Amino acid sequence: MGRKKIIAGNWKMNGTPTEAVALANSLKDKISGSASDVVFCVPAIDIIPVLEAVKGTDIQVGAQNIHFEESGAFTGEISAKMLVDVGVKYVVLGHSERRQYFAETDETVNKKVLTAIKNGLIPIVCVGESLTQREQGITVDLVRLQTKIAFKDVTAQDAKKSVIAYEPIWAIGTGKTATNAEAQEVCAAIRQVVREIYDDATAEEIRVQYGGSVNGGNASALFAEADIDGGLVGGASLKPEFEKIVNY
Ligand code: 13P
Repeated sequence: MGRKKIIAGNWKMNGTPTEAVALANSLKDKISGSASDVVFCVPAIDIIPVLEAVKGTDIQVGAQNIHFEESGAFTGEISAKMLVDVGVKYVVLGHSERRQYFAETDETVNKKVLTAIKNGLIPIVCVGESLTQREQGITVDLVRLQTKIAFKDVTAQDAKKSVIAYEPIWAIGTGKTATNAEAQEVCAAIRQVVREIYDDATAEEIRVQYGGSVNGGNASALFAEADIDGGLVGGASLKPEFEKIVNY
């Protein structure tokens, strides 16, 4: 049986609670009941109102980060347990913006992946190279290493249910999408490293998304590639165009 596609909107730091509810309401009827899993990964303060807005649909709500500790003196942070308590199912971890601006490392991403899974959240683990790294020819080596560290101490059972998002940094917010072949090549390499860490069954079940300037025009060709199981969508997830991506 094929893998079910998963299409997630990463709203990043966009949308007041009022705006977030308006966006969710404007999209929900057009994108619920689709053949894919659909997730809105929204700012923390928008989680509860958006959950309320999509109640009764099959749209899931995700967070964009967690702290790796369960609780304690970590001012300003949000725990996995808090998210689970309100009904969050997914969490984006290790996004390149968090690695770049908030000093996240492969090691902290691994800790967060373990904490997310322990609490019942499905991690969407982001990996991907910079333009310099691509030009140096180390893309596959880099994403293999990022994947291996992120999944250190994660069981095959838990890895199977997880999601990996391949997001080349040079394609994020630039309008410069990876070609279908480039995206497929790296997504296949990610599935291969999962096969090496675990086994065939885990590699066949884990879902690998592509992210980076996905839009209504390029989604269907990207999602047709053998190892691309959907997308992690930034800018276009805030627009009516998201419907086109979900119903590619
Ligand atoms: P864009 O779709 O805006 O390029 O963003 C991609 C992304 O970073 C999703 O996490």
